[in-house]
Amino acid sequence: MKQITIGKQVMTAPAIVAGCMRLADFTPQQMNHFIHTSMELGIKFFDHADIYGGGKSEEIFGQALKNDASLRREDMILQSKCGIAAGYYDLSKKHIIESVDGILQRLQTDYLDILLLHRPDALMEPEEVAQAFDILQESGKVRHFGVSNQKPMQIALLQKYVKQPLLINQLQFSIPVSNMVANGMEVNMETDGATDRDGSVLDYCRLHDITIQAWSPFQMPGWKGCFLGAPEYGELNKVLSELSQKYEVTIAAIATAWILRHPAGMQVITGTTSEERLKEIASAVAIRLTRQEWYRLYLAAGHPLP
Ligand SMILES: NC(=O)c1ccc[n+]([C@@H]2O[C@H](COP(=O)([O-])OP(=O)(O)OC[C@H]3O[C@@H](n4cnc5c(N)ncnc54)[C@H](OP(=O)(O)O)[C@@H]3O)[C@@H](O)[C@H]2O)c1
Repeated sequence: MKQITIGKQVMTAPAIVAGCMRLADFTPQQMNHFIHTSMELGIKFFDHADIYGGGKSEEIFGQALKNDASLRREDMILQSKCGIAAGYYDLSKKHIIESVDGILQRLQTDYLDILLLHRPDALMEPEEVAQAFDILQESGKVRHFGVSNQKPMQIALLQKYVKQPLLINQLQFSIPVSNMVANGMEVNMETDGATDRDGSVLDYCRLHDITIQAWSPFQMPGWKGCFLGAPEYGELNKVLSELSQKYEVTIAAIATAWILRHPAGMQVITGTTSEERLKEIASAVAIRLTRQEWYRLYLAAGHPLP
């Protein structure tokens, strides 16, 4: 499995991450099997959040680990997120600390490798987050920290107070949902892609050694379902199919290779519940799309080049 450098050489981690958002309905046995398959593929990095399945995803994952001595905690990277509550966001010190306690309890582990703040909280007081991070790190409950869905200025503000380096920014990114790259090419044009929705987050993360984790790599904009095979993306699927024949992989692997081809060194967080699909997606790491292929896919999704 291809490895990505996280932060300023803080750790290396697999290019593909198993997202656990859709695994809440697994039995512990199914989860155990899924984890084994992931580990065998080199996908030893699991992305959780306290809200996935209302805590069920973490709970079942913890049960799946519990009685299986062959799944060693130290062989895996467990990441989770907190900050989304019922009808509001909460990045207060109390909420962060209590959330981590709940996460550790459900995952039946002593520590998280990485904790992410799930979404920006308009009422966040960065001093409080800094205190929470210190307490969590000093107690050994969390080793590293990052954010999710944050703009550069929000990260900079937080980093002013928090002494731990923010290693990760988890953002939606895929061939159709790629304003992050459109924005960098349609500079100063009167086109949709020129609209700066994220404050140049891609360049900022690269400048500051923050690893971008691409979530929902196969979803259409607005979460309207998977674009792989969808009639709304006929031209894109035509090019995906052509390249899948050339590289002898599935179209999901080509869509994954498109994200991995970007020089920012992103991780791809897949959300599949299928072990077969996970294997297909993992095969993407062996593919390096040419520059022309990368742009063909981008254009086929309907994005213009100025
Ligand atoms: N930070 C955030 O705000 C945020 C938000 C959303 C998600 N996430 C993270 O990102 C992860 C991935 O998100 P996601 O689940 O939306 O990602 P995804 O991988 O784009 O979508 C997976 C879904 O697409 C379906 N699918 C249909 N055809 C597929 C194909 N050919 N190949 C692969 N999948 C296919 C899967 O079904 P099957 O199960 O049948 O394969 C599954 O339901 C989550 O698990 C979570 O960890 C983070």
